[in-house]
Amino acid sequence: MLKRVGKALGIGLAVFVTILGIALASLYFVESQKLDASFDIQPDEFDIPTDEAAIAEGERLYHVRVCVECHGEDASGSTIADMWAMTLTPANLTLVANAFSASDFARAVRHGVSPSGRPYVHMPVDDRMWNLSDRDLGHIVAYVRTLPRIENSLPATELKFWGKIFDAAGMVPVPMIPSSAIDHDRPRPDAPAIAETEEYGRYILAVSGCQLCHWENLAGGLPPMFDPEKDGIPPNLTPHETGLAGWTREDFFELMREGRRPDGQQIDRDKMSLDIFERLTDTELGALWLVLENAGPVPFDEH
Ligand code: HEC
Ligand code: HEC
Repeated sequence: MLKRVGKALGIGLAVFVTILGIALASLYFVESQKLDASFDIQPDEFDIPTDEAAIAEGERLYHVRVCVECHGEDASGSTIADMWAMTLTPANLTLVANAFSASDFARAVRHGVSPSGRPYVHMPVDDRMWNLSDRDLGHIVAYVRTLPRIENSLPATELKFWGKIFDAAGMVPVPMIPSSAIDHDRPRPDAPAIAETEEYGRYILAVSGCQLCHWENLAGGLPPMFDPEKDGIPPNLTPHETGLAGWTREDFFELMREGRRPDGQQIDRDKMSLDIFERLTDTELGALWLVLENAGPVPFDEH
C-alpha cells in the first residue's frame, strides 16, 4: 500500500517537474525572441539648436523631462540594479551624444531601439517618451552634446535567467523590453504650441508622467507595485471633495514649487521628485492647472 502511494507521489512529482520545466523553457524562449528581435525604424531628422539659450533650456528639460533620474546629473549613466535577476545600467549618454543624429536619439527615446535595430532594455518608452516633442528632445540633445565626455565602465545591461522568466511572465512592474510591446507605426501626436492652454497642459501631464502615479483619470490611489510606506499614496488630483476641490491656481503653484499644501502641511518632496518638477515654468504649471481644474471630479481611488 505504502509502496503504491510512494510510487504515485513519485509520478506526481515527476509530472510536476516536467510541466514546470516546459513552462520555464517556453517563457525563456519567448523572452529571448523579444531580445533577439531587430527593428527597422527610421525617424525623420530634425534640427538640433546650438545657441546658448537653447542649451540652457536643454539643461532644464534634461531634468524636468526626467532623463536625469536614470542617466544621472552628468549624463554618464548609472547602475539602477545589479543583482541575480538583472543588471540595469542606463547608458552613458556622453559617449554617444555627438555620434548620434537627431533621428538616432528619436529612435532610442521614442521607440527603445538602437541605431543597429537592437531593442534596448528598460529605456522607458512610455507616454512620457512617445509624446516628447522634437523641440524638447532637440534641446535636450543640444545640452547633452555640450557635456564633457566621461569614460566609465558600467556593467552592461543584462536580463539574466530569472529576469527573463519574470519579465516574460509579466511579473515585473514595467515591461523590460518596451519596444516589443508598443505599436511603432501609430501616429505621433502633434506638439502643441507653448502657451497656457489646456492642450499644452495635457502635453506637460503626459511628458511628466504624472499619471504613472496619480492614475490615468487622476483620481489617485495606490498604483500597482507601489509600497505605500516607501512611495506614498498618490492623492486625488481632480476637483472632487476628496481631491483638489477648493484649491486655487496659487495653491497649486505653492505645492509644486514649495511642497506646501493649502492647509500648511508639507508633502514629502522626494515622493514626487519635486526637486525636478519645481523647475517647470509658470507657463507649464499654469497649463497643467487648467487641465486639473477642468478635469471631471472623481472620488479618490475610483478608476
Ligand atoms: C527609467 C530609466 C530611464 C529614463 C527615465 C530614461 N532612460 Fe534612456 N536609457 C535607459 C536605459 C536602461 C538605457 C540602456 C538600455 C540598454 O542598454 O539596453 C537607456 C538608453 C538610452 C539611449 C541609448 C544610448 C546608447 O548608448 O545607445 C539614449 C539616447 C537615451 N537612453 C536617452 C534618454 C533621454 C533623452 C531620456 C529623457 C527624455 C531618457 N533616456 C530617459 C533608462 C532610462
Ligand atoms: C512618482 C510618483 C509621482 C509622480 C510622477 C507625480 N506625483 Fe504628485 N504625488 C505623489 C505622491 C506620493 C504624493 C503625496 C506625497 C505626500 O503626501 O507626502 C503626491 C502629491 C501631489 C499633490 C498634492 C495633492 C494633495 O492633496 O496633497 C499634487 C498637487 C501633485 N502630486 C501633483 C502632481 C503633478 C501635477 C505631477 C506631474 C507633473 C505629479 N504630481 C507627479 C506621487 C507622484
